[in-house]
Amino acid sequence: MDKIIVLDFGSQTAQLIGRRIRDMGVYTEILPGDSPLDAEALAETRGIVLSGSPESVYENGAVPDRVVYECGLPLLGICYGLQRMNYDQGGAVEPLPRREYGRIGVTIAEGAGLDNIVSDTAVSGGVIGTNTVAARRFLEGFPPNNGTRRFTAWMSHGDTLTRLAPGFRCYGFSDTGYPAVLIHEDRPWFGLQFHPEVTHCEGGTGILRAFVFGVCGADAGWTMERYVQELRTSLAERVGDNPVLLLISGGVDSTVAGALLLAALPPDQVHLMYMDTGLMRKDETTAVKAALEKLGARHLHIVYCGEEFLSALKGLTEPEAKRKAIGDLFITIQEREVRALGLPDSYFLAQGTLYTDLIESGKGVGKKARLIKSHHNVGSPLVDAKRRAGRILEPLDRLYKDEVRRLGALVGVQREVLQRHPFPGPGLAVRILGEVTAEKCNILREADAIFIEELKSRRSAETGNSFYDDIWQAFTVLLPIRSVGVAGDVRKYGWVLALRAITSADGMTADVYPFPTADLLEISTRITNAVKDIGRVTYDISSKPPATIEWE
Ligand code: XMP
Repeated sequence: MDKIIVLDFGSQTAQLIGRRIRDMGVYTEILPGDSPLDAEALAETRGIVLSGSPESVYENGAVPDRVVYECGLPLLGICYGLQRMNYDQGGAVEPLPRREYGRIGVTIAEGAGLDNIVSDTAVSGGVIGTNTVAARRFLEGFPPNNGTRRFTAWMSHGDTLTRLAPGFRCYGFSDTGYPAVLIHEDRPWFGLQFHPEVTHCEGGTGILRAFVFGVCGADAGWTMERYVQELRTSLAERVGDNPVLLLISGGVDSTVAGALLLAALPPDQVHLMYMDTGLMRKDETTAVKAALEKLGARHLHIVYCGEEFLSALKGLTEPEAKRKAIGDLFITIQEREVRALGLPDSYFLAQGTLYTDLIESGKGVGKKARLIKSHHNVGSPLVDAKRRAGRILEPLDRLYKDEVRRLGALVGVQREVLQRHPFPGPGLAVRILGEVTAEKCNILREADAIFIEELKSRRSAETGNSFYDDIWQAFTVLLPIRSVGVAGDVRKYGWVLALRAITSADGMTADVYPFPTADLLEISTRITNAVKDIGRVTYDISSKPPATIEWE
């Protein structure tokens, strides 16, 4: 299958480049900017994109394997990637007097592009050499320019090219007068000072398409059906007749990983382990069990350890202390229960790690990408040991969340499971502020179930979808305070409950869901009527940042 490699030099948008190209049906792989590119890495590669970076080429910026310049493959340098290519080939890059950020116009030089590729700019001129055909195809992908040849690009850079390397020609300038579109005259090398992958860049996808299809001639062979087929074959080959143990949380990712294993291997080889920490949502364990059995699970090990978690949490009120107690106990129980299964040492350990989990935790992909969250359980001593032994299976580790949902549908996971809102590892413990008790868990579970049921049954007049489907994540939070109210004629002293509902693309930032007031009022009434310990309901109207999605 044809692929495009994205060399990640630490840009926040390197992932986005990969995403955009995958959305065109072409498989992409993101590799650290300086990773060695041997024949295996380059197999079936049709082109390489060099990403942006917060670094400068003349300071600490990473340098790609020189094979990049020798392999003859088409290259597209974006921002730092362009500066890198120019600098490595003998051009100059220097700091701008002032950093440029945001929407900036770019004008394609008169005469550049379509019929005769001639640049009449001050930086370079003349007819392009052996790269003419590819250059024309590339420039054809630029936004329609209404006779003005100008479009709005999106930039974020502190350096600029100040001398072009031999062979590079400039075909477009920013309104601020800096080189913005570069093409090499003899080699299939292209560079953009702006970011076509960012949605604010006018026609950005068209420019990427022109590179991927027009220049690289890549085949759009990346379909989920095909990928599932390949995964099934490779999983079966790799596992042989060894048993596989999958750690299941009940969320979308691990359930899809389970479904995939059950589709790829004889079900008797597949062991699924799920821990009911007592901090789960209402009827969650029953639903997880039913879903997995429907997928053909034969060896489902449900570990009921609610008591252990509650006693570990006793007396703890600090959010981090609670998280640590849960994390530590999780590991202890996991090791104990896995040992108790008595699987042979040769067993494979599987988890539903996603591509974004690897990127966020800085594991293996995009070495320079920063650690954004610390709560991903990509690692535990057991997982680390199995990883060292080369016996970890992470069949979803090349996929983004929405791709996992598509894959899940192909291997029979129900829509309801696939569309489920995310749920944090520490469960209700981070939604009961202060000390966690069994009683509070029950109160929260009831209130949360009502909230979610209401979101599923109410529709947005604007989109026609259920509120639940339009919301990225919704839940209730039990506050550690009680307030005064009346019930009948009697004074009531009840707990305060907060509702949280946010929209988001990936959980990194979040906006408050704009509920119609009438719905909020009705939901609040239903909760206070049905859950007698709750006396008051509030709606959390904080975005992320500054507030996080969870309260602890
Ligand atoms: P925050 O609260 O950091 O949450 O804005 C972002 C997303 O991550 C989820 N979350 C967790 N997920 N283990 C997880 O697996 C955790 O410890 C954890 N804490 C928060 C949160 O629900 C939201 O979707």
